[in-house]
Amino acid sequence: MKIFLTGGSGMVGRNILDHPKAKHHEIIYPSSSELNLLDREHVKTYLLALKPDIVIHAAGRVGGIQANIAHPVDFLTENIDMGLNVIAIAARLGIQNLINLASSCMYPKDAVSPLTENLILGGPLEPTNEGYALAKSVSTRLCEYISKEDPAKLYKTVIPCNLFGRYDKFDPRHSHLIPAVIRKIHEVKVVGGKTVDIWGDGTARREFMCAADLADFIWFATDRMHQIPQNLNVGLGYDYSIKEYYAATAAVIGFEGSFKYDLSKPVGMRQKLVDVTQLESLGWRYKTGLTEGIRAAYNFYLQKVNHEL
Ligand SMILES: NC(=O)c1ccc[n+]([C@@H]2O[C@H](COP(=O)([O-])OP(=O)(O)OC[C@H]3O[C@@H](n4cnc5c(N)ncnc54)[C@H](OP(=O)(O)O)[C@@H]3O)[C@@H](O)[C@H]2O)c1
Repeated sequence: MKIFLTGGSGMVGRNILDHPKAKHHEIIYPSSSELNLLDREHVKTYLLALKPDIVIHAAGRVGGIQANIAHPVDFLTENIDMGLNVIAIAARLGIQNLINLASSCMYPKDAVSPLTENLILGGPLEPTNEGYALAKSVSTRLCEYISKEDPAKLYKTVIPCNLFGRYDKFDPRHSHLIPAVIRKIHEVKVVGGKTVDIWGDGTARREFMCAADLADFIWFATDRMHQIPQNLNVGLGYDYSIKEYYAATAAVIGFEGSFKYDLSKPVGMRQKLVDVTQLESLGWRYKTGLTEGIRAAYNFYLQKVNHEL
């Protein structure tokens, strides 16, 4: 297949490219400086010349709770514009297959876990990432409309739970929970510190999948576009408390100090666990356990830190 992959330099994109199946296909993955997806005309001329068999849309403005709170305008507008430019233009040019990456952040804040795919747009969104969630909801609906108008077009949305792994972001201004925890605990350990701060009381629950496993699913899906449901959660089917993520990370890093809870900080939704009934009925399951995944992400972090020294 000739595959057009957006976000090829990001965590998901690089895990897709690292997968053994990648070498069997021609994959074109321009960086944002080669093709700015906010530039509608350029996206149009690029896709017209390329005529890919399938588009995997894994680009986005992505960040943790701090970045989302600080820049809601960018999270809304950039993700909406990229989604419209890539998805609507691909459809107009007659490209038959597209996988759109959404996020479990788009489920309503009061929805009860496990979150089934039919809950999309079923209620008010979590305010800390509303802009991002609105943009993801728009591209998800756009794919639905395109497939409804022309059933030959297989424009499917994958809704991953939270992700972590190799190529993650460790800068606290942009990082998600696990890389933030890795960095915090590592930095306290190297200076001989004894205490690590945790936002909130640590009881909120989150589901994190290794990005390499999501990449494995994306490759599984490219071979089965007809069988993949219109909107599909991709997750583990179980979650851990924030406290448990800290404990597992501390064990991998070898930190033996204690944790201090900062109850003044925002924690987001109490629980966010996706329903994996549809996913499991396809016969696919994640492969990487939590400790193994944290170890891979920590080794990547150490390589980065050592490289920057
Ligand atoms: N990370 C998670 O926990 C998570 C969870 C659920 C869903 N997702 C979804 O998965 C997808 C990939 O996430 P990720 O974690 O891989 O993100 P990431 O590491 O931040 O990568 C983002 C990618 O988007 C590209 N990009 C951003 N703005 C662009 C623009 N204007 N033009 C062209 N490319 C642009 C970046 O390219 P440059 O580096 O060249 O700028 C980069 O390759 C996103 O749709 C995200 O919403 C992620």
